[in-house]
Amino acid sequence: MGLSFQPLGALPVIEANGARIPRIGLGTWRSTHDEGVQAVQAALDAGYRHIDTAARYENEQAVGQALAASGLSRDAIFVTTKVWHTELRAADFRRAAEASVARLGLDHVDLLLVHWPNPEVPLAETIGALCDAQRSGLTRHIGVSNFPAALLDRAVALASVPLVANQCEYHPYLDQTTVLDACRRHGIALIAHTPLGSGKLLADPVIAEIAREHNRKPAQIILRWLMQQPGVAAIPKSSNRLRIGENVAVFDFGLDANSMARIAALAHDDGRVSKPAWHPQWDAPANSSAAHRT
Ligand SMILES: NC(=O)c1ccc[n+]([C@@H]2O[C@H](COP(=O)([O-])OP(=O)(O)OC[C@H]3O[C@@H](n4cnc5c(N)ncnc54)[C@H](OP(=O)(O)O)[C@@H]3O)[C@@H](O)[C@H]2O)c1
Repeated sequence: MGLSFQPLGALPVIEANGARIPRIGLGTWRSTHDEGVQAVQAALDAGYRHIDTAARYENEQAVGQALAASGLSRDAIFVTTKVWHTELRAADFRRAAEASVARLGLDHVDLLLVHWPNPEVPLAETIGALCDAQRSGLTRHIGVSNFPAALLDRAVALASVPLVANQCEYHPYLDQTTVLDACRRHGIALIAHTPLGSGKLLADPVIAEIAREHNRKPAQIILRWLMQQPGVAAIPKSSNRLRIGENVAVFDFGLDANSMARIAALAHDDGRVSKPAWHPQWDAPANSSAAHRT
């Protein structure tokens, strides 16, 4: 089915293998308890319709509380959750997905992701359990997260229903050409996690200069750079109402080719922010010295 782009209400969506994914969603890692409830409420007030959570974030109940209080109809909201990498055997996966949906107070989520790959569990078993979760109605769509290109190819080949997303770290300090090309080849959206580098990119002088030129905030320049790339969505996290509003106000201006290129040129070999011990072997940056060495 592939990728295409159409507006839905006020905010654009990516159409990826049958899913309509709002291009900006709220990240909620580290937003727990009341802070989590208030962040989701502020996001829904600001027009967000896509909320990203995970069992690991220990905030599914808070997210669910805010969704229930919003008064929005269920089909107006796109909710993503994820199964942790220690729960990837089929029986564990099923139990974990059911528990997430229950904590959210929903009868299904819109997107269920394998949070990280786990080489100790056969990929066929995990992808089988992921597809079963969709077939049994626990989720409308399925996908993966933190899957490098070759592993994504294997997951796609194993899946009996289409994957719609690969949620990966992506921002101007990290060249993700290889995995982005793989996503596009499969008609899968790349949902950019850590899109502001967990805040590390916000003081970058080039971003700051482009922000001044456009009379915008640095976060808006980074998010706009992502939005101008076909097939890319982003889930910036904030627990501040003002910043939550800023991060979604990125569809009323544009960056010219020169600004896009200056921002892309910020990528460097050590640009990755999310480096847990269980990370897979990442794709080499396509344009880096590391890539030229091999
Ligand atoms: N799949 C995975 O393995 C994975 C891994 C990491 C993250 N994620 C997802 O991706 C989401 C985003 O990643 P992240 O939380 O690491 O970091 P991020 O979105 O890159 O950056 C968040 C940081 O930037 C600040 N910030 C946000 N908007 C701002 C603005 N307009 N101006 C100034 N500062 C701003 C936030 O502070 P305030 O809250 O104070 O505004 C926070 O400190 C997570 O919440 C999670 O949902 C997924």
